[in-house]
Amino acid sequence: MAVSVKTKREIELMREANHRLEKVFDGMAELIRPGVSTFEIDKRARRLIAEMDGIPNFLNYAGYPAAVCTSINEVVVHGIPSKKEILKEGDIISLDCGLIYKGYHSDAARTYAVGKISPEKQKLMDVTRQSFFEGIKYAKAGHHLHEISNAIADYVEPFGYGIIQQMVGHGIGTEMHEDPEVPNFRQKKRGIRLVPGMTLAIEPMISMGDWEIEILEDGWTAVTIDRSPAAHYENTILITEGEPEILSLTREP
Ligand code: MF3
Ligand code: CO
Repeated sequence: MAVSVKTKREIELMREANHRLEKVFDGMAELIRPGVSTFEIDKRARRLIAEMDGIPNFLNYAGYPAAVCTSINEVVVHGIPSKKEILKEGDIISLDCGLIYKGYHSDAARTYAVGKISPEKQKLMDVTRQSFFEGIKYAKAGHHLHEISNAIADYVEPFGYGIIQQMVGHGIGTEMHEDPEVPNFRQKKRGIRLVPGMTLAIEPMISMGDWEIEILEDGWTAVTIDRSPAAHYENTILITEGEPEILSLTREP
């Protein structure tokens, strides 16, 4: 599939879809504290997405049963919300969520602390978030895609963390997953040349230990094989001639 370059009107809809998603995140973040179940977070996500006139893009995607992925500690991504899963002090939880607005997709993820967490987990979260910002320094017209991947790897590797390789970022538009794939680990080829109007979901997934993951019996939950904690940070961005526009983040979270 060719990489889509959005028109002015499409860019406006991508912006709107992602601004609406940012508000969904605000509402979900308010819920995060010890004692809350991940089911309650999904319930709120569904309600907020509906209030934004959005459609949940994760729900029923390849059979995924919720509007948000809730991934705690050693769960890297695709944790399934459950009434039986209760947040506790010291956990870190990644929320990955998206919505469709007037046919256009948004996609973002953040990792949150539940109460007081260890300095090690805090550092993992901070490095994961910063790696996104290091990567997008190269997300400009004229640069090549894999400069983003290599910048993420250059920043993360000195910390000794694992960079998850089985899952990657992606183009996004009228589909949640469009070409190109955006890896977060070192690439040999330079990848496609970036052009204004491309929209990409950049999403480093980083573990405190080994980079390898396995999928649990539910067919979704991706955990680190060494059960070390992991963090995830994602935004949908727009390539411009200059600095990229971070569509799903208009202010400091
Ligand atoms: N947000 C994920 C991504 O970044 C997709 C979630 S998979 C789903 O690609 F099944 F939960 F939708
Ligand atoms: Co994504």
